[in-house]
Amino acid sequence: AGVAHEINNPINYIHGNITPAQEYVQDILELLDMYQQEFPHPTPEIKIKIAEIDLNFIKKDLNEVIRSMKIGTERIYEILKSMRNFSRFEKAEFKQVDVREAIDSTLMLLNSRMKATTSSPEIRVIKEYQELPLVDFYAGQLHQVLMNILSNAIDALDEYNKQRTPEEVRKNPSQIKVCTKILNKEWVVISIADNGLGMPEEVNKKLFDSFFTTKSSGKGTGLGLSISYQIVVEKHGGKLLCYSQPGKGAEFIIQIPIRQKISQLVL
Ligand SMILES: Nc1ncnc2c1ncn2[C@@H]1O[C@H](COP(=O)(O)OP(=O)(O)OP(=O)(O)O)[C@@H](O)[C@H]1O
Ligand SMILES: [Mg+2]
Repeated sequence: AGVAHEINNPINYIHGNITPAQEYVQDILELLDMYQQEFPHPTPEIKIKIAEIDLNFIKKDLNEVIRSMKIGTERIYEILKSMRNFSRFEKAEFKQVDVREAIDSTLMLLNSRMKATTSSPEIRVIKEYQELPLVDFYAGQLHQVLMNILSNAIDALDEYNKQRTPEEVRKNPSQIKVCTKILNKEWVVISIADNGLGMPEEVNKKLFDSFFTTKSSGKGTGLGLSISYQIVVEKHGGKLLCYSQPGKGAEFIIQIPIRQKISQLVL
């Protein structure tokens, strides 16, 4: 939270000043136009300067430049907000959690891993959110579970794309589908489904074991899902399931009770 806060102030200076800067620039450009109309025949020095700086291009580009800066600072704002949510939740605080907000800020932090790069295609996120009630949960831990499952999905998609031809990728683009729904009065369900490489039965059986990983050392510790299982099943009395077949992606179902009996909660 400290770092996010530190960054927030200087960003405020930049963001807060962009709009007035844009207005000043606009005014100056209008004044320049007036000059050009009133004095259509500038001196040779001015003519040379105009050509040198490519005035027409500047006029066209300047607004675009400022607009990009604005988008940039807005993006930083959003990232900071997610980071703050994240670290606020980090404290082992038991509270009523907005599941949707938790999913969105986790996705936000993973955004850069899902953008297309020269070596890997874009991963699309499809959201199907049903309105959910607030849920009793250790908020930081819900983030942790979502982070583990979503990062695994991205890993599985990246891995799959390394094995596929661009043609195959184009026909069946990478996606993660996130759904939330109310099961009944007592339970809500979050489903996270990727269309990555999936997994064989042997892997599926060991999925939630501590230190079980199929990733190369340095890449995976094999703890993500066992920790998630502890959080969902043991700490919150929920269910964590996975349906998957090789080549058919994987779907993780997180089923959580809406209310906790406080007396049952142990940290
Ligand atoms: N969405 C998925 N698609 C295919 N395989 C998966 C998926 N999620 C998990 N797995 C398999 O389950 C294994 C265990 O996952 P887990 O998150 O516990 O550990 P990890 O990702 O290997 O390492 P860590 O999360 O500790 O960095 C993975 O190595 C992978 O083989
Ligand atoms: Mg993992």
